[in-house]
Amino acid sequence: MKVKIKKFRNGEFLWEEYEIDGEGNTVLEILQKIKEEKDPTLSFRAMCRAGICGTCAVKVNGQHKLACSTRVYSDITLEPVDVAPTIKDLIVDHSFIYKKLKEGKVWFEVLPTNVPLKSNELKNTEKSWDCILCGICNYVCPAIQEDKNFGLPSTFTKAYGVIFDKRNAKGDEKLKDLVPLNIQSCTHCKNCTFSCPKECNPELLINILENTMVRYGLIRKKEQDFGFLGF
Ligand code: FES
Repeated sequence: MKVKIKKFRNGEFLWEEYEIDGEGNTVLEILQKIKEEKDPTLSFRAMCRAGICGTCAVKVNGQHKLACSTRVYSDITLEPVDVAPTIKDLIVDHSFIYKKLKEGKVWFEVLPTNVPLKSNELKNTEKSWDCILCGICNYVCPAIQEDKNFGLPSTFTKAYGVIFDKRNAKGDEKLKDLVPLNIQSCTHCKNCTFSCPKECNPELLINILENTMVRYGLIRKKEQDFGFLGF
Protein backbone atom coordinates (compact mmCIF):
# COMPACT_ATOMS: atom_id res chain seq x y z
CA MET A 1 0.00 0.00 0.00
CA LYS A 2 1.00 3.64 -0.54
CA VAL A 3 1.43 5.90 2.47
CA LYS A 4 1.70 9.62 1.74
CA ILE A 5 2.97 11.69 4.65
CA LYS A 6 2.98 15.45 5.01
CA LYS A 7 6.29 16.09 6.73
CA PHE A 8 7.45 19.34 8.32
CA ARG A 9 11.12 20.14 7.98
CA ASN A 10 13.06 23.40 8.29
CA GLY A 11 9.94 25.53 8.44
CA GLU A 12 8.13 24.03 5.46
CA PHE A 13 5.77 21.18 4.63
CA LEU A 14 6.66 18.55 2.03
CA TRP A 15 4.84 15.39 0.95
CA GLU A 16 6.70 12.09 0.85
CA GLU A 17 5.37 8.76 -0.37
CA TYR A 18 6.34 5.32 0.96
CA GLU A 19 5.40 1.89 -0.38
CA ILE A 20 4.86 -0.53 2.49
CA ASP A 21 3.28 -3.88 3.25
CA GLY A 22 0.85 -2.70 5.95
CA GLU A 23 -2.77 -3.57 5.05
CA GLY A 24 -4.79 -4.38 8.18
CA ASN A 25 -2.27 -2.72 10.51
CA THR A 26 -2.90 0.31 12.68
CA VAL A 27 -1.59 3.67 11.48
CA LEU A 28 0.91 3.62 14.34
CA GLU A 29 2.23 0.19 13.32
CA ILE A 30 2.63 1.50 9.77
CA LEU A 31 4.53 4.58 10.98
CA GLN A 32 6.82 2.36 13.05
CA LYS A 33 7.41 0.10 10.03
CA ILE A 34 8.30 3.09 7.85
CA LYS A 35 10.68 4.36 10.53
CA GLU A 36 12.37 0.96 10.91
CA GLU A 37 12.51 -0.02 7.24
CA LYS A 38 12.45 3.13 5.10
CA ASP A 39 13.05 6.43 6.91
CA PRO A 40 14.69 6.52 10.35
CA THR A 41 14.26 10.32 10.44
CA LEU A 42 10.45 10.16 10.35
CA SER A 43 9.08 11.77 13.53
CA PHE A 44 5.75 11.09 15.25
CA ARG A 45 4.54 10.92 18.83
CA ALA A 46 3.15 7.82 20.61
CA MET A 47 3.56 6.25 24.02
CA CYS A 48 1.03 3.63 25.14
CA ARG A 49 0.00 2.12 21.76
CA ALA A 50 -3.36 1.31 23.41
CA GLY A 51 -5.61 4.39 23.14
CA ILE A 52 -4.84 5.57 26.66
CA CYS A 53 -2.06 8.19 26.66
CA GLY A 54 -3.69 10.41 24.02
CA THR A 55 -0.42 11.45 22.34
CA CYS A 56 -0.75 9.90 18.87
CA ALA A 57 -3.47 12.04 17.20
CA VAL A 58 -2.88 12.59 13.45
CA LYS A 59 -4.99 13.23 10.37
CA VAL A 60 -5.72 10.03 8.47
CA ASN A 61 -7.24 10.70 5.04
CA GLY A 62 -8.26 14.15 6.30
CA GLN A 63 -9.94 12.90 9.52
CA HIS A 64 -8.50 13.39 13.00
CA LYS A 65 -7.81 9.96 14.55
CA LEU A 66 -5.71 8.18 17.14
CA ALA A 67 -2.94 6.47 15.14
CA CYS A 68 -2.78 3.51 17.54
CA SER A 69 -6.53 2.82 17.36
CA THR A 70 -7.10 3.24 13.61
CA ARG A 71 -6.74 0.20 11.37
CA VAL A 72 -6.31 0.80 7.62
CA TYR A 73 -6.71 -1.50 4.63
CA SER A 74 -5.69 0.61 1.59
CA ASP A 75 -3.62 3.64 0.56
CA ILE A 76 -3.62 6.47 3.10
CA THR A 77 -2.48 10.06 3.54
CA LEU A 78 -1.21 11.20 6.92
CA GLU A 79 -0.87 14.80 8.09
CA PRO A 80 -0.22 16.59 11.37
CA VAL A 81 -3.36 17.71 13.19
CA ASP A 82 -4.94 21.13 12.57
CA VAL A 83 -4.77 24.12 14.93
CA ALA A 84 -1.66 23.09 16.94
CA PRO A 85 1.68 24.41 15.60
CA THR A 86 3.76 21.67 13.97
CA ILE A 87 7.21 21.01 15.45
CA LYS A 88 8.52 18.23 13.17
CA ASP A 89 6.76 15.90 10.72
CA LEU A 90 3.64 14.66 12.58
CA ILE A 91 4.63 16.07 15.98
CA VAL A 92 2.75 19.16 17.14
CA ASP A 93 3.01 21.48 20.12
CA HIS A 94 -0.08 20.67 22.19
CA SER A 95 0.98 22.61 25.28
CA PHE A 96 -1.98 25.02 24.78
CA ILE A 97 -4.29 22.19 25.97
CA TYR A 98 -2.55 22.04 29.36
CA LYS A 99 -2.32 25.84 29.55
CA LYS A 100 -6.11 26.12 29.34
CA LEU A 101 -6.61 23.44 32.01
CA LYS A 102 -4.39 25.54 34.26
CA GLU A 103 -6.27 28.73 33.44
CA GLY A 104 -9.58 27.08 34.42
CA LYS A 105 -8.02 25.52 37.56
CA VAL A 106 -9.37 22.16 36.48
CA TRP A 107 -8.29 20.08 39.41
CA PHE A 108 -9.72 18.57 42.61
CA GLU A 109 -9.68 20.43 45.89
CA VAL A 110 -9.38 17.27 47.94
CA LEU A 111 -11.67 16.60 50.93
CA PRO A 112 -9.94 15.81 54.25
CA THR A 113 -11.68 12.41 54.43
CA ASN A 114 -12.14 9.76 51.78
CA VAL A 115 -15.67 9.83 50.26
CA PRO A 116 -16.64 6.57 48.55
CA LEU A 117 -18.79 6.93 45.41
CA LYS A 118 -21.81 4.77 44.57
CA SER A 119 -21.73 3.31 41.06
CA ASN A 120 -24.59 5.56 39.85
CA GLU A 121 -22.67 8.62 41.10
CA LEU A 122 -19.60 7.53 39.19
CA LYS A 123 -21.74 7.01 36.09
CA ASN A 124 -22.65 10.72 36.06
CA THR A 125 -19.05 11.78 35.47
CA GLU A 126 -17.59 8.72 33.70
CA LYS A 127 -17.57 10.38 30.26
CA SER A 128 -15.41 13.14 31.66
CA TRP A 129 -12.97 10.69 33.28
CA ASP A 130 -12.81 8.70 30.02
CA CYS A 131 -11.22 11.73 28.30
CA ILE A 132 -7.53 11.03 27.54
CA LEU A 133 -6.75 14.64 26.49
CA CYS A 134 -5.81 13.55 22.96
CA GLY A 135 -6.91 17.02 21.81
CA ILE A 136 -8.94 15.86 18.78
CA CYS A 137 -12.04 17.76 20.01
CA ASN A 138 -9.96 20.95 19.96
CA TYR A 139 -8.46 20.36 16.52
CA VAL A 140 -11.96 20.22 14.94
CA CYS A 141 -13.52 23.08 16.97
CA PRO A 142 -14.59 26.22 15.03
CA ALA A 143 -15.10 28.25 18.24
CA ILE A 144 -11.34 28.24 18.85
CA GLN A 145 -10.83 30.09 15.56
CA GLU A 146 -13.44 32.71 16.50
CA ASP A 147 -12.52 33.32 20.14
CA LYS A 148 -8.93 32.95 21.31
CA ASN A 149 -10.12 33.08 24.96
CA PHE A 150 -12.44 30.10 24.48
CA GLY A 151 -11.44 27.45 26.99
CA LEU A 152 -11.34 24.43 24.60
CA PRO A 153 -13.71 21.42 24.52
CA SER A 154 -11.10 19.27 26.30
CA THR A 155 -10.93 21.71 29.25
CA PHE A 156 -14.70 21.72 29.72
CA THR A 157 -14.89 17.94 29.32
CA LYS A 158 -12.42 17.52 32.19
CA ALA A 159 -13.98 20.36 34.22
CA TYR A 160 -17.35 18.59 34.13
CA GLY A 161 -15.90 15.66 36.09
CA VAL A 162 -14.22 17.90 38.64
CA ILE A 163 -17.33 20.04 39.26
CA PHE A 164 -19.98 17.32 39.42
CA ASP A 165 -17.96 14.80 41.43
CA LYS A 166 -18.86 14.93 45.13
CA ARG A 167 -15.25 14.19 46.11
CA ASN A 168 -14.35 17.74 45.03
CA ALA A 169 -14.37 19.85 48.20
CA LYS A 170 -15.25 23.06 46.37
CA GLY A 171 -18.01 21.58 44.17
CA ASP A 172 -20.09 24.18 42.30
CA GLU A 173 -17.86 26.97 43.57
CA LYS A 174 -15.32 25.93 40.96
CA LEU A 175 -17.72 27.05 38.23
CA LYS A 176 -16.46 30.60 38.87
CA ASP A 177 -12.99 29.55 37.71
CA LEU A 178 -14.46 28.74 34.29
CA VAL A 179 -15.97 32.20 33.70
CA PRO A 180 -12.88 33.68 31.95
CA LEU A 181 -12.89 30.73 29.52
CA ASN A 182 -15.97 31.94 27.61
CA ILE A 183 -17.87 28.67 27.53
CA GLN A 184 -20.73 30.56 25.81
CA SER A 185 -18.55 30.85 22.66
CA CYS A 186 -19.27 27.17 21.95
CA THR A 187 -21.38 26.99 18.78
CA HIS A 188 -22.74 23.51 19.66
CA CYS A 189 -21.80 22.29 16.18
CA LYS A 190 -21.01 18.86 17.75
CA ASN A 191 -17.78 18.43 15.73
CA CYS A 192 -16.10 17.51 19.03
CA THR A 193 -18.70 14.87 19.82
CA PHE A 194 -18.55 13.30 16.35
CA SER A 195 -14.72 13.17 16.40
CA CYS A 196 -14.01 12.08 19.98
CA PRO A 197 -12.32 8.63 19.79
CA LYS A 198 -13.41 7.80 23.36
CA GLU A 199 -17.08 8.80 22.84
CA CYS A 200 -16.94 11.34 25.68
CA ASN A 201 -19.61 13.56 24.08
CA PRO A 202 -17.87 16.88 24.89
CA GLU A 203 -20.70 18.98 23.43
CA LEU A 204 -23.24 17.49 25.85
CA LEU A 205 -20.94 18.13 28.82
CA ILE A 206 -20.34 21.73 27.62
CA ASN A 207 -24.10 22.22 27.27
CA ILE A 208 -24.77 21.05 30.84
CA LEU A 209 -21.92 23.14 32.27
CA GLU A 210 -23.00 26.22 30.29
CA ASN A 211 -26.64 25.93 31.41
CA THR A 212 -25.54 25.45 35.02
CA MET A 213 -23.39 28.59 34.81
CA VAL A 214 -26.33 30.53 33.37
CA ARG A 215 -28.56 29.27 36.19
CA TYR A 216 -26.04 30.44 38.78
CA GLY A 217 -25.96 33.87 37.09
CA LEU A 218 -22.27 33.53 36.22
CA ILE A 219 -22.65 34.04 32.46
CA ARG A 220 -25.30 35.00 29.93
CA LYS A 221 -26.08 32.70 27.04
CA LYS A 222 -25.05 34.04 23.63
CA GLU A 223 -27.96 35.28 21.51
CA GLN A 224 -28.47 32.82 18.66
CA ASP A 225 -29.39 34.08 15.20
CA PHE A 226 -32.28 31.97 13.92
CA GLY A 227 -32.91 34.25 10.91
CA PHE A 228 -32.46 31.27 8.58
CA LEU A 229 -35.87 29.97 9.72
CA GLY A 230 -37.36 32.75 7.54
CA PHE A 231 -40.44 33.65 9.63
S1 FES B 1 -0.23 5.84 21.57
FE1 FES B 1 -1.34 6.32 23.40
S2 FES B 1 -3.31 6.86 22.67
FE2 FES B 1 -2.24 6.25 20.89
